[in-house]
Amino acid sequence: MRLTGAVVALMVLGLVVARAQEKGTAGASFKDDVFPVFRKYCLPCHSEDNFNPSELSLDSYDLMMQGGKNGTLIVAGKAQESLLTKKLGEAPPFGERMPLNKKHVISEGKAKYLSESELKIITEWINQGAKNN
Ligand code: HEC
Repeated sequence: MRLTGAVVALMVLGLVVARAQEKGTAGASFKDDVFPVFRKYCLPCHSEDNFNPSELSLDSYDLMMQGGKNGTLIVAGKAQESLLTKKLGEAPPFGERMPLNKKHVISEGKAKYLSESELKIITEWINQGAKNN
C-alpha cells in the first residue's frame, strides 16, 4: 500500500515537472506574463479611463500595438530596438524612465521600476515575436 502511494506521488510530481518544462519552452505569454505587469505598473496612467499620457493606452494588445504619439512600441523579434524596452531602461531616448516616478521619489532612491525578472519576461516576449498569446 505504502509503495503504491509513493508511486502515485512520483507520477504526480513527474506531471508537474513536465508541465513546468512545457511552459518554459513555450515561452512568454502576453496574457499571462506581460499584461499583468502592465496592469500593475502602467495602467494607473496609460489607460483610456485614466490620463493616457502621450496617447498611449496599454489596456489591450491591440491598443498597445497602436503605440503612442511617438509611434510603434514594438519591433517584433527585436527587443533592443523596441521603444517599450527602451522606455523601461535606465536611458530612455526621450522623456522619463517608465513607470514614471515623482522626481523627489527618484532623488531619494525610492523609485519603483520593473524588476530584473519582469524586464526579462517582456524582453523575451518581444524577442519571441510579441504575439497575442
Ligand atoms: C505616473 C504615470 C505613469 C505611469 C505609471 C507610467 N507612465 Fe508611461 N508615460 C507617462 C507620461 C507622463 C509620459 C510622457 C512623458 C515621457 O515620455 O516620459 C509617458 C510616456 C510613455 C511612453 C512613450 C509613448 C510615446 O509614444 O511617446 C511609453 C512607451 C511609456 N510611457 C510606457 C510605460 C510603461 C510600459 C509603463 C509601465 C511599466 C508606464 N509607461 C507607466 C506616465 C506614466
